[in-house]
Amino acid sequence: MAESARDFSDWLEGELRSDHAGETGAVWIYKGVLAARPQQSLRQFCERHLQTEEQHLLKMNALLPHRAHSILLPLWRIAGFMTGFLPACFGQKAVYKTIAAVETFVETHYQQQISHPALINAPDIRATLEACMQDEIDHKDEAAKLAGPSQNLFIDIWCWLVGAGSRCAVQLARRL
Ligand SMILES: [Fe+2]
Ligand SMILES: [Fe+2]
Repeated sequence: MAESARDFSDWLEGELRSDHAGETGAVWIYKGVLAARPQQSLRQFCERHLQTEEQHLLKMNALLPHRAHSILLPLWRIAGFMTGFLPACFGQKAVYKTIAAVETFVETHYQQQISHPALINAPDIRATLEACMQDEIDHKDEAAKLAGPSQNLFIDIWCWLVGAGSRCAVQLARRL
């Protein structure tokens, strides 16, 4: 029994570390876009989303003790910044596509955690993850609508890289 409680807390800590790392990256994505001095409509979109991501990060800070933070946080900040800054240099469509790609990944990530049987015994944490996931779905839908249909192979390849990078980042952040 004690062993399974420890297994659960080890699993949960790894998952929450990945969430905390992800929300850190999300904050820095929007900082990256804003650093590229986008036009007003994109700036307002980013400022609004940034506020939500900062709230998510506060929630993760409340769930995850400081000692359990990812040791790679500086890397997640840089990666997040570049994930926002680079597409912003190519225009707002590239940014909206990037946000839609990131949030598609994040929705799946949170959904996998929420549907894990172990979380039945942690309803408060589950509720927090569900609330964050709903915001991410809203972000994804809004960005996808603003981006419109894709007709750019370069952006599609970039978004595939963003998804692959996000998967790698989660794997690393669960452990480190
Ligand atoms: Fe978030
Ligand atoms: Fe988000």
